[in-house]
Amino acid sequence: MKDTFYVTTPIYYPSGKFHIGTAYTTVLADSLKKLNQLRGKDAYLLTGTDEHGQKIQQVAQKNGKEPKEYVDEMAQMAKNLWKTMEIEYDDFIQTTQKRHETVVQKVFEKLLAQGDIYKGKYEGMYCVPCETYFTETQLVDGKCPDCGRDVVKMEEEAYFFNMKKYTDRLLAYYDAHPDFIKPEYRKSEMINNFIKPGLEDLCITRTTFDWGIPVLSDPKHVVYVWLDALLNYITALGYLSDDETLFKKYWPANVQIVGKDIARFHLIYWPIFLMALDLPLPKTILVHNWIMMKDGKMSKSKGNVIYPETLIERYGLDAVRYFLLREMPVSQDGIFSPEAFIERYNFDLCNDLSNLVNRTVSMVNKYFDGKVPESSTNSNNVDDTFEKEAQGYIEQFEAKIDNFEIADSLKEIWQLISRTNKYIDETAPWQLAKEEETEKLKDSMYHLIEYIRKIAILITPFMKDTAKNIFKQIGITDEKLQMWDTLKTNIQLKDVQVISQGEPIFMRLKAEDEIEYLKNIMKAN
Ligand code: MSP
Repeated sequence: MKDTFYVTTPIYYPSGKFHIGTAYTTVLADSLKKLNQLRGKDAYLLTGTDEHGQKIQQVAQKNGKEPKEYVDEMAQMAKNLWKTMEIEYDDFIQTTQKRHETVVQKVFEKLLAQGDIYKGKYEGMYCVPCETYFTETQLVDGKCPDCGRDVVKMEEEAYFFNMKKYTDRLLAYYDAHPDFIKPEYRKSEMINNFIKPGLEDLCITRTTFDWGIPVLSDPKHVVYVWLDALLNYITALGYLSDDETLFKKYWPANVQIVGKDIARFHLIYWPIFLMALDLPLPKTILVHNWIMMKDGKMSKSKGNVIYPETLIERYGLDAVRYFLLREMPVSQDGIFSPEAFIERYNFDLCNDLSNLVNRTVSMVNKYFDGKVPESSTNSNNVDDTFEKEAQGYIEQFEAKIDNFEIADSLKEIWQLISRTNKYIDETAPWQLAKEEETEKLKDSMYHLIEYIRKIAILITPFMKDTAKNIFKQIGITDEKLQMWDTLKTNIQLKDVQVISQGEPIFMRLKAEDEIEYLKNIMKAN
């Protein structure tokens, strides 16, 4: 049986159109799924929408819709976007689906029966018009952060989860499993900011609204968002349902991807819920930073929002996927700016990648009528050094991606592309042709095609269409030659014929025009 690889995205709030931040998390998860599939694993990707809670109920009302009608439409919108972005998810969960709701109810009763959940009183600052509780620190000048009106101190009956009881077990788990939290600095953040000061018990039900999953044994309470939402990762696999096949096959997850704002819920509450249910914990929770704008967070009022569809329509999907993954360093926020986007397009995609393929294809046509020479047994310094360095970048890529350093792993691929471009200058094929050094010319063309083939394999998880296009242009139609396990050695290329008329994969853009265009779009959003 194949090794499995289960990867999840957070489930998104369907409260509006998804911007490039939401798209980022999903592209990341999709790329990891595709990478592991290429490496021969049975990979499974879950995404979905988080549909309960008062906010969603209010948004639906504003749109003149019943909540369920509204969330179903939004889930469809999400699916359409993921289709456009070629996200190959295996399941899409909506928390309003029966399969999820019944299991959340079962889990609640189980945890109640075993004493992890108890009934108490919830106290907070309440905004009556917004029907929402806030903590003291969320208030702005002592008033409601949403509408600016006065708030009142209120309390209501609620159920709580006894987090404190699990504190020591959680810390011991962190210690014994160094790969559980990536990047590592998030661990000390959790310990210092939340665990050391003392974990508060978590309020997990509400009685002030009804758009949620009712508690079976006390139906005036609905389960409040986080217990409901986090469980999606296992309810989608059929946990506690009549058919637990998928759950048995894929759980525990290999990697669960979350943004920094929801790190606390996934690094503290989620493992504790799993411990209480006596289930294994995911191998890794990967916390990423945010895509910001030059002037801070994306917001409509600042006129700096950008939607993935806008970019895809004009520049193509792969340029957008590349930019998102490449611009986000592991430990800081990334910045979206029209200038940076166009620069990556023109330099990385057009100058580096597209030109490498284009130049090579036309040389193979010119010197060998399009037939790729087989590798020779001659050995020379230029080729040996090139091979050694090129393989080094591939090894570095593997090391970085295994540590989930996505932007840096893409950087390694682009180092390999630059190194291959440099190899053209080093071997100067036009010179070899002039001097009729046919054997050396053959070696040069063979190496170029062989390493472009490897580059195409490496970019497949991130930019599948571009990879396919490259394989087509260099005549690598045999699927065996597109496989991950052919990266380590050099392959004999027998009967490989490049296409007779190569076409640029990415065309250079007029930078000023495009920057202007994007700025106008952002203002209009
Ligand atoms: N519904 C919860 C998650 C529940 S998971 C059991 C939620 N939803 S969300 O729609 O608000 O956010 C979903 C994800 O999008 C989060 O991981 C969040 O960090 C991410 N992003 C939202 N804006 C973002 C950027 N600007 N940049 C990168 N990611 C961003 O939270």
